[in-house]
Amino acid sequence: MRHFISLLDISNDEARHILKRAAIIKRMLREGKPHQPLAGKTMGMIFDKASTRTRVSFEVGMYQLGGNSVFLNSGDTQLGRGEPVEDTAKVLSRMLDVVVIRTYAHDMVQRFARHSQVPVINALTDLTHPCQVLSDVFTYEEHRGSIEGKTVAWIGDGNNMAHSWINGSVSFGYKLNIACPDDYTPDEKLLAAARELGAEVNLTDDPLLAARDADLVTTDVWASMGQEKQRAEREKIFAAYQVNSRVMLEAQPDALFMHCLPAHRGEEVAAEVIDGRQSVVWDEAENRLHAQKGLLEFLLA
Ligand code: CP
Ligand code: NVA
Repeated sequence: MRHFISLLDISNDEARHILKRAAIIKRMLREGKPHQPLAGKTMGMIFDKASTRTRVSFEVGMYQLGGNSVFLNSGDTQLGRGEPVEDTAKVLSRMLDVVVIRTYAHDMVQRFARHSQVPVINALTDLTHPCQVLSDVFTYEEHRGSIEGKTVAWIGDGNNMAHSWINGSVSFGYKLNIACPDDYTPDEKLLAAARELGAEVNLTDDPLLAARDADLVTTDVWASMGQEKQRAEREKIFAAYQVNSRVMLEAQPDALFMHCLPAHRGEEVAAEVIDGRQSVVWDEAENRLHAQKGLLEFLLA
């Protein structure tokens, strides 16, 4: 039994296997060929935060794979009234075949997994968002071929997405340039652990330097879920970190632009970039479905 709480929970070969399967599963869907290896299985989804893409891609993906899902807004469950995470994990994993969790504290997902008899998938915590980066690498490779040895530029907050891009450097072998304001750099422990495993990460406070010769430029909101009160302050601090055409000019001429979405045009990304010729954000969003079907098949079939 395996969990997917971090990209580092799967080996590099397994990550490659999942993406290969995702491509096959995507093709089968396009060709109208049913693929239902998860018939009779049920996925539980415990969500503490809002979601459009993650919720719909997991629910639709599970349905297409032949299984069912139960969506649990944790506030409507006994978790919201203080039932321990450990007890909830023991109970739910006697009924479900896989549990997908989106929450604030990363530690909650880890505690749940320790007491779960079924695989647990991290659908975003304050620390990481591994399903998104799995899909993003899939999207890059659909457009440009192998990401190994390529340069990814992360511009903006050293947040959960940045952390998963750091871990992804271990799994997929790309070089990562991160540009963040001084007090918003990635978690030092996570970065050190990934470097130990071979991640190639450069940190700077200069977005133009980070973008130089990059094959992929990516960013995310300046205020993540749970940081709404800091929004005005962050808008000032991050003002120089917008991905606009000046930043894209530093990158390779055929560089792609990605954003996990939701995006704020005029803040972390200029409309000319997200709606421009280098942007693949809609493919990126769609590929959540296909990549996560690959993941569910790997964990369950
Ligand atoms: N990118 C992403 O995870 O989107 P949602 O918050 O809509 O799920
Ligand atoms: N960093 C963002 C990602 C949303 C998908 C957040 O955590 O809100």
